[in-house]
Amino acid sequence: MSEGIPLPALPRGLLLPPDERAARLAGALPAIEAALAGETDEIAALATLASLLFHTLPQASWCGFYRRTGERLLTIGPYQGPMGCLRIPFDRGVCGACAQERRALLVPDVRAFPGHIACDDATRSELVLPLLAGGSLRAVLDLDSHHTDAFCEQEARLLERLLARVATGIAWGPSFPDPSG
Ligand code: SME
Repeated sequence: MSEGIPLPALPRGLLLPPDERAARLAGALPAIEAALAGETDEIAALATLASLLFHTLPQASWCGFYRRTGERLLTIGPYQGPMGCLRIPFDRGVCGACAQERRALLVPDVRAFPGHIACDDATRSELVLPLLAGGSLRAVLDLDSHHTDAFCEQEARLLERLLARVATGIAWGPSFPDPSG
């Protein structure tokens, strides 16, 4: 047992092969869901998720949430890693694009993504996923790495399922109307 989940601690920055990364994440999911069971508070749930996912994904240099705080605005939420940008409009960066399109965005090399926000110059790849509750966008999960190609489709699918389950347990406040495009 280490840092709340039964996974061996790995050095920060280690990039395992995709299958091993997906297996490590899949193995951690039951413990992550157990840790969140019954928790309805948004900050408690998102902070715990950020911590447990950061521990599970050693390739991540940053792991956390941007919460939707306006019709087209994201504001920093619970995270692990160096300081992130405080506010991201929907028309900026990978996080904004994910919020706008409401689908997972896998960016193997951020230098090829127009408008990428370089909160950390060393970031090379990202995976950003929408957190939707009752059809409404509530937040995005942002995972960054100093390695190119550090996240894969398998990880994206596993995280999508985790976020969908977690979202149903949180007592969200009032929602914002979703933009049409
Ligand atoms: N990389 C993100 C911005 C957030 S930080 O890197 C923590 C983006 O382009 O949306």
